[in-house]
Amino acid sequence: MLPPETLSSLRQIAAEIACEAGTLIHDMRMAGAEVDATKSSVTDIVTPADHRAEELIVERLRALRPDDGIFAEEGHSAETQTGITWVIDPIDGTVNYLYNLPSFCVSIAATIEDPRSYADGRRAVAAAVYAPRSDELFEAACEQGATRNGQPIHALPPKPLSQSLIATGFGYTRERRLEQHELLGRIIGKVRDIRRLGSAAYDLCLLASGRIDGYFEKGIQPWDWAAAALIATEAGAVTLGLDEHSPAGEKMFIAGAPQTALALQRLIRGDDNVPLSLGSAR
Ligand code: IPD
Repeated sequence: MLPPETLSSLRQIAAEIACEAGTLIHDMRMAGAEVDATKSSVTDIVTPADHRAEELIVERLRALRPDDGIFAEEGHSAETQTGITWVIDPIDGTVNYLYNLPSFCVSIAATIEDPRSYADGRRAVAAAVYAPRSDELFEAACEQGATRNGQPIHALPPKPLSQSLIATGFGYTRERRLEQHELLGRIIGKVRDIRRLGSAAYDLCLLASGRIDGYFEKGIQPWDWAAAALIATEAGAVTLGLDEHSPAGEKMFIAGAPQTALALQRLIRGDDNVPLSLGSAR
């Protein structure tokens, strides 16, 4: 593990750059937003602000940490010479950004290789997520806890699934959405309610700050989860994949207090007998 001072310094770098990029996209949105290009489908969009913010983040990181790797949603990449790779989403919640809805954020994580942690084989050791509309800066470093605007945050304790508010998201292709629709149909009647806010990174930060009970999604990508997963786990949540052999990742990403996440995992795997009360969800 990296020394605590190194982790703090990486967290500070992530936070400062996330705030600078967040201010840039916020200011750019004041002048309007347009679609620059589409990706996996016509609904999967990229705006000029995504590109500008990613360029700014990469430029700052290269100046401060020239030997680190880069893996960013809009295409920047570089091999690492130090073992650290920065995983970047310049705007998570791009559709919200286009429509001027508030849930969008900048996500920056310093990650290391760890084959057992997440499906992409890396995990964050320091991270920041900045949501400019609500002016919320979420930060975390490994074993140093998580904060929102400098104040420690904690995930909610487990509740019965029937009283748990669960966030999820949908992908951009028809096939993926049909699968998600089927899954949602099995879950929605068993939980307090579902929220679809449009930014996986922000959803995980809401979980970390005790404002939802759980999160699941099939199909999210490392740049969506890298930073916010550390923030959620440092706040006391756990992340799970579909079963004990598959870590959280693209195939399935489940997060919540341990009992909530385990009960959600059983439900998602098709166990219709998951007790919805807390005692029996163990
Ligand atoms: C998307 C958001 C959304 C999630 C999608 C992601 P983007 O990221 O996080 O909430 O449901 O799976 O692709 O496209 O806004 O960066």
